[in-house]
Amino acid sequence: MTAVDDAVRAEIQRRGPIPFSEVVEHALYAPDGGFYASGGQAGRRGDFLTSPEVGPLFGVVVAGALDTWWDEAGRPAVFPVVEAGAGPGTLARAVLAAEPRCAAALRYVLVERSASQRDLHAEHLALEAPGAAFASLPEPDDDNPRAVGYPPTGPILVSLPELPRLPGPCVVLANELLDNLPFGLLERTAAGWAEVHVGLDGDDLVEVPLATTDDVAVDAAVGARVPRQSAAASWVADARELAGPGGRVVALDYASTTADLAQRPWTEWVRTYRGQARGGPPLEGLGAQDITCEVAVDQLPAPTAASSQADWLRAHGIDDLVAEGRAQWKEQAAVGDLAAVRARSRVGEAEALLDEGGLGGFRVLEWWG
Ligand SMILES: C[S@@+](CC[C@H](N)C(=O)[O-])C[C@H]1O[C@@H](n2cnc3c(N)ncnc32)[C@H](O)[C@@H]1O
Repeated sequence: MTAVDDAVRAEIQRRGPIPFSEVVEHALYAPDGGFYASGGQAGRRGDFLTSPEVGPLFGVVVAGALDTWWDEAGRPAVFPVVEAGAGPGTLARAVLAAEPRCAAALRYVLVERSASQRDLHAEHLALEAPGAAFASLPEPDDDNPRAVGYPPTGPILVSLPELPRLPGPCVVLANELLDNLPFGLLERTAAGWAEVHVGLDGDDLVEVPLATTDDVAVDAAVGARVPRQSAAASWVADARELAGPGGRVVALDYASTTADLAQRPWTEWVRTYRGQARGGPPLEGLGAQDITCEVAVDQLPAPTAASSQADWLRAHGIDDLVAEGRAQWKEQAAVGDLAAVRARSRVGEAEALLDEGGLGGFRVLEWWG
């Protein structure tokens, strides 16, 4: 039995059945034994592969997108970008390695809830204290003309456990964060909708549907389930507030709609992972496996734009980057140095990132204005 199993059982004994969303919260984020508190992470040597972990190409495309948005904003001297759910910091490293044109203005804030993953940021990135990144401007005077030394030259990197408050517009990025925010489960019963709770039958954790006034406006047969993604919806609202007028929120994830999910077995859209493989049922081994849910887009604030990841990457120049990689490999294959090998690997990375049946089929949701 895991530490989280024990904690959840103790909680149920105290309070009776608890909502499924609370169990997910414990399983993923409990400081004592939660999946992400005890080393679970994305990566080839981690538990599951995400777009940034496929290789550096995803970060090169994101770096290009940041340059586009920086240009559109009139190339401000300070350009804050917040990456939420930054994991071990792989995307940040790839973005910086791509040397975007906005680098000198870039204030890159990695936001990661898991302390063990935040520790990894400092291993690979030169982090600064948050105050240094967003220190208020000293008034320019004869002794301190703004042209000399201000604003400090970026990129400046900061790592935080939660979303900051920043003055002025910023870009907020989140790759595969929304699917990992604790979600509830609603079940259609003959008497209406019920919220799935988790209770105890002897020593076993069992699902207990309890009637709810929460209503879901979709056709669903008795027994059908849908997720309740209040945490994802309120995260998007917070991120939009942080991005502010003139800013932008970009979330990439596997996604669907409530109506579609209601037609499919819930065990298909609630998925568990550990060690690069599918895990067991969600209530098994709490804390020892990741628990995720396809994102019901209609439960989020309506996005300004939505596309597939493949289309989004193409719109931001992935095809040119791959062609560039091919040409470079052709020229330098005989040398076979790191640059040549990286150039060649772009081809394979692009295939994985654009695969419509996999990462390329993810949704990219953007909010701005
Ligand atoms: C599936 S991983 C994705 C990591 C990375 N973005 C990637 O694509 O490889 C989701 C990450 O979000 C983090 N997370 C969950 N809730 C969070 C929150 N409210 N704020 C910041 N990070 C969060 C988790 O700890 C986990 O590292």
